[in-house]
Amino acid sequence: MKEQPVENKILTLKKAFEARFGSSEGLRFFAAPGRVNLIGEHIDYCGGLVFPAALTLDTLVAIRKNGTPSTVRLAATTIDGIRTFDINNIEDARSLDWGNYQAGVVRELIRLGIDVGGFDACYLTTVPFGAGLSSSASIEVSTGLAVSELFGGKLNGVEIALAGQRAENTFCGVNCGIMDQFASAMGKKDHAIVLDCNTLDYKYVPLELGNHVIILANTCKKHALGASKYNERRREVAEGLEEMQRIEKSRGVSEPHKTLCEYSVEELRDYMCEISDPTVMMRVIHVVTENARVKEAVKVLEAGKLDEFGELLRKANNSIRYLYEATGFELDAMFDAAVTFDGCVGARMTGGGFGGCTVNIVAADRVEDFKEYVGTRYTAATGNVPEFYVCETGDGARELFI
Ligand code: GLA
Repeated sequence: MKEQPVENKILTLKKAFEARFGSSEGLRFFAAPGRVNLIGEHIDYCGGLVFPAALTLDTLVAIRKNGTPSTVRLAATTIDGIRTFDINNIEDARSLDWGNYQAGVVRELIRLGIDVGGFDACYLTTVPFGAGLSSSASIEVSTGLAVSELFGGKLNGVEIALAGQRAENTFCGVNCGIMDQFASAMGKKDHAIVLDCNTLDYKYVPLELGNHVIILANTCKKHALGASKYNERRREVAEGLEEMQRIEKSRGVSEPHKTLCEYSVEELRDYMCEISDPTVMMRVIHVVTENARVKEAVKVLEAGKLDEFGELLRKANNSIRYLYEATGFELDAMFDAAVTFDGCVGARMTGGGFGGCTVNIVAADRVEDFKEYVGTRYTAATGNVPEFYVCETGDGARELFI
């Protein structure tokens, strides 16, 4: 799927705004992308390293003040009508069928001291919903940037990312980490970001894949993070951390590590058999080894060793599949088909899991063969028809000028 030119998206959005709110006078446009995570899954909330890249698939918002002190009116190209909430009663927005992410972000901006007044906003998104490509983060971050700029907030990208994460945690009930919002706010075209989720230190790494491309394969089984096992996994790793600290203390260490990803693979080896619950033990093994794989993956990618990078992707998939149990029938079927394709150097699930997409590194001249080969096998196994996107990386959140 080729992303449409930004001019077309702006034009569509402008028309949609006019149809709902009368005119387009004084409109400003902002965009924030979805992301693909290359490796480092389910460890952002354990203080780990992650390696995402922003996509060209994004959410655009057209916005302007509406002259009221506190009325927010929201619309989108794909939904009918207008959703309204009052800034003085933001809690009421929880009952909206759409607009929760925006309300949560507005609440966070107010908490940061920004004097948010009434505004009208219309959204257009090309990030497939529920596909593990961070459509929700792209809504949060585009809203955060747009509303903050409109009302003189002048937040930087990291502050916007953190506000988006808090909105999702406290208003939308998903206890997510910082990876998605960070990638959406801070992404850079043709680069992936290696992000230390403990310190928020980050580095851009050129995404040079030679004669290979990234293909996202969408299982078209939607994941629903809130309803899924995501929050359960968070509880399990919190228990895992307590266990590791307990074991560490029993060895005479007075100041145990504060996050799971601070444990080395050697410490893991030493302590893990004393973790009492086998499920918790599996989760901890995934987290600690995944963190080590990210370090290695960044190193080999920078050295241009694509085969080794692909091999780490495969190992990461097996870890999240068998130890973290965050894949499911559809993702497994997609992965199993991809890794038997000659020309695919690496594949894994990406994002929260339990549905959504796999990320695949495929020879550029074999893209059509890959889609045919994997698509046929995936449909035979699951009955679902998949979608494939040749992935282009893009920039993080920004204002669009026309
Ligand atoms: C979702 C969350 C992220 C991260 C991933 C798994 O996308 O929003 O914070 O935990 O799952 O890596």
